[in-house]
Amino acid sequence: MDLFEYQARDLFEAHGVPVLAGIVAQTPEEAKAAAEKIGGVVVVKAQVKVGGRGKAGGVKVAKTPDEAFEHASAILGMDIKGHTVHKVMIAQGADIAEEYYFSVLLDRANRNYLAMCSVEGGMEIEQLAVERPEALARIAVDPAVGIDRAKADEIVEAAGFAPELREDVANAILKLWDVFTKEDATLVEVNPLVKTGAGEILALDGKVTLDENADFRQKGHAALEDKDSTDPLEAKAKENDLNYVKLDGEVGIIGNGAGLVMSTLDVVAYAGEAHGNVKPANFLDIGGGASAEIMAAGLDVILNDAQVKSVFVNVFGGITACDAVANGIVKALEILGDKENKPLVVRLDGNNVEEGRRILAEANHPMVTLADTMDEGADKAAELAYAAR
Ligand SMILES: Nc1ncnc2c1ncn2[C@@H]1O[C@H](COP(=O)(O)OP(=O)(O)O)[C@@H](O)[C@H]1O
Ligand SMILES: [Mg+2]
Repeated sequence: MDLFEYQARDLFEAHGVPVLAGIVAQTPEEAKAAAEKIGGVVVVKAQVKVGGRGKAGGVKVAKTPDEAFEHASAILGMDIKGHTVHKVMIAQGADIAEEYYFSVLLDRANRNYLAMCSVEGGMEIEQLAVERPEALARIAVDPAVGIDRAKADEIVEAAGFAPELREDVANAILKLWDVFTKEDATLVEVNPLVKTGAGEILALDGKVTLDENADFRQKGHAALEDKDSTDPLEAKAKENDLNYVKLDGEVGIIGNGAGLVMSTLDVVAYAGEAHGNVKPANFLDIGGGASAEIMAAGLDVILNDAQVKSVFVNVFGGITACDAVANGIVKALEILGDKENKPLVVRLDGNNVEEGRRILAEANHPMVTLADTMDEGADKAAELAYAAR
């Protein structure tokens, strides 16, 4: 999960990384009040989860609270690379003497962490990395050791910091490492890390990606989720521990196992070419269990998608045999009752398939069509979706 800058700032502060005051605002009035509270020069910063806000006009200096009001009016609602600005952060203005760059991230390919640091930070770091890679120090970090004092010293030296700055920058890096490990992040990036006119080192912009696999031990992280921009169906699926991704077609898909679901999407998209180009409406993997409750929860999510016109249930019975899956489907239809108002195509195969098909045939639900093969099922589901347009 990527965080907004203001959330990264708060985590930085909590772990002792030097930052300036920052207050989030959702209206120009709140922005003005925040500017009054902070006092002096402030910077109005668009809060969107994408870089390059400065260049896009989403970061503006305000000398007075009224100016903060004006800038917030202009920035709120702005579109930055496809992201609408719903919040701004009013940040205390820094007297910037120099801009640097620091990041640490999970380096999957090399099975360790990677720290990157440069004395030439600011807005053009990607360009710097391409044009003059030697100006960006890249230091491998052994996960078993992490960034200790020696490693922090190595990083600042490799980046070319002047000797008198090294201790302060190394201290900031040690705190940023705390953020990285204690918050279970996969990325912590500061651009720019600045030196002020008074010689202070500060993190002025932060980007943090949290590892959702660690959510079970990071109870505070749930509150950082951006509920406004999460798709409501995806949120509902998440509540039920379902692996669901909304797409924009019309054929709802349920399968067991990510690989089978992926190929079902392909087969449905292909079948759709013959039926008005209907496309899959979602990815939904109900996993190995396929109990009635999980099936009902999955169907419920899909049927609540107004775009869905038909549903294709494609299950391969393995450890959970087809008869259990069929009973699950029958019970799920009972649980859903009148909510099950869209045609359902079911293809079962694998362990105990005969019994599974018998159970579904016997239940003889008016909305359910049985298919023998995956291709046949995909074609039927696409046809039904097209007919219901
Ligand atoms: N609090 C601040 N005070 C003064 N200048 C700032 C402040 N925050 C950002 N800036 C300036 O704006 C530039 C862009 O802001 P930044 O937060 O890095 O956004 P982005 O990386 O999305 O463009 C920074 O490189 C810095 O020069
Ligand atoms: Mg930046």
